[in-house]
Amino acid sequence: MAQFDLSNRGTFGSKFGIIAAAAGSAIGLGNIWRFPYITGQNGGAAFLIVYLFFVFAIGIPVMLSEFVIGRATQRNPFGAFRKLAPGKPWWLVGVLGIGAAFMILAFYGAVGGWTIEYLIQSIGNTFKGKDAAELQIMFNSFLSDPVRPVIWQLLFMAITALIVLSGVEKGIERFAKVLMPVLLVIIIILDIRSVTLPGAREGLEFLFKPDFSKINASVIFEALGQAFFSLSIGMGTLITYGSYIHKKDNLANTAVIVSLADTFIAILAGIAIFPAVFAFNIAPAVEEGLVFVTLPTIFQQLPGGYFFMLLFFVLLIIAALTSSISVLEVVVAFSVEELKIPRKKATLLATAAISVLGVMCALSWGGLSEFKILGTHFFGLLNSTSTKIFLPLGGLLIVLFVGWGYGKSKVKNELSNQGDLRSRLFKLFMFLVRFIAPIAIALVFLNGLGILKF
Ligand code: TRP
Repeated sequence: MAQFDLSNRGTFGSKFGIIAAAAGSAIGLGNIWRFPYITGQNGGAAFLIVYLFFVFAIGIPVMLSEFVIGRATQRNPFGAFRKLAPGKPWWLVGVLGIGAAFMILAFYGAVGGWTIEYLIQSIGNTFKGKDAAELQIMFNSFLSDPVRPVIWQLLFMAITALIVLSGVEKGIERFAKVLMPVLLVIIIILDIRSVTLPGAREGLEFLFKPDFSKINASVIFEALGQAFFSLSIGMGTLITYGSYIHKKDNLANTAVIVSLADTFIAILAGIAIFPAVFAFNIAPAVEEGLVFVTLPTIFQQLPGGYFFMLLFFVLLIIAALTSSISVLEVVVAFSVEELKIPRKKATLLATAAISVLGVMCALSWGGLSEFKILGTHFFGLLNSTSTKIFLPLGGLLIVLFVGWGYGKSKVKNELSNQGDLRSRLFKLFMFLVRFIAPIAIALVFLNGLGILKF
């Protein structure tokens, strides 16, 4: 059937298109919602340094490895490994990825729902005149509401499914290209307002002046998970996106640009948040609520704040969608190509199944707050297991495959577009992929799980 003809796969229309789409996947709630509160919980600048090290030593090599596998095979992660290593169990990486996609999209959709709630509250201007403590109460009472988090989560998932249904070029690429630069501008405006608040200095020191005594196994483990999550790696998302990249595009440049852009946006989000956290005495206990308490506070201090806040939440929702579609796409591409389910049906089934888990996440502070596994509610469980265990494990296997399993000359061929490009840094890449990345991931992993102690 033509529908399943692999030569019929979509591709990204232009070089800027693929960078925009991959950056659209990477840049999302991971940068603006997750990065600030994880950084806050893990000691600020010391965490940031470990994080940056992981982005460069592990993140970029894993991302590039995913692109190589995806473009070489033109398949979903599961099919890609079966094609490159027939008869060997590497396809398990694909299975792991599907599992991670379910977990990530479940809690991601819940947070996507929170952004919809906050857009609606912004329209009604209900934040007006409230101080940080009152905004915190407002956030908590929303989270424990039995209905609203669920409705918005389902709406967010429905929009994600609609975009995925409209296909690669029309849906994903068109979306990603136009709006991300506008989001960048608003974040920079927020940064300027935040760093000029009285008392901002302490926040900047928290973010940039490291206290190395704060580094421990759990900080390092969190930094690795955050790096994987923020870069969209370790799950096969970028294998899937890599399969849509043109044979003539430069994979290495794309990986570096996307990683830098992602890291830059996370740091800009940190610069918006931490000065304000110190200036307004925002309690560290807000955790997952950090940006939802801090940002409305800053917007109130900004001329035209009402307008900017509206625009900000619209764009945040869009940034979240360009990421959520990339997670759903992994499950859909797998179902279409491997299970031979028509695209429309696959999208609907995957969305429905993930939404069931998602509702449980959305209710983790409400109806299901008493439901705990290993001492954490469902949201927390999926959030930390997927980022700290599934993604690094997937990443480890991906670099091992590219470093040792696939064959050096094939890797070189793909990276150089069959010899068309000079690949000056190829040796460095192979060294990172063979030694540094796998050893670092394994050590952080064993140390973080308490199996090995340093
Ligand atoms: N990186 C995205 C963010 O920061 C989330 C995301 C999209 C993701 N696709 C992924 C995370 C694949 C891990 C794997 O919001």
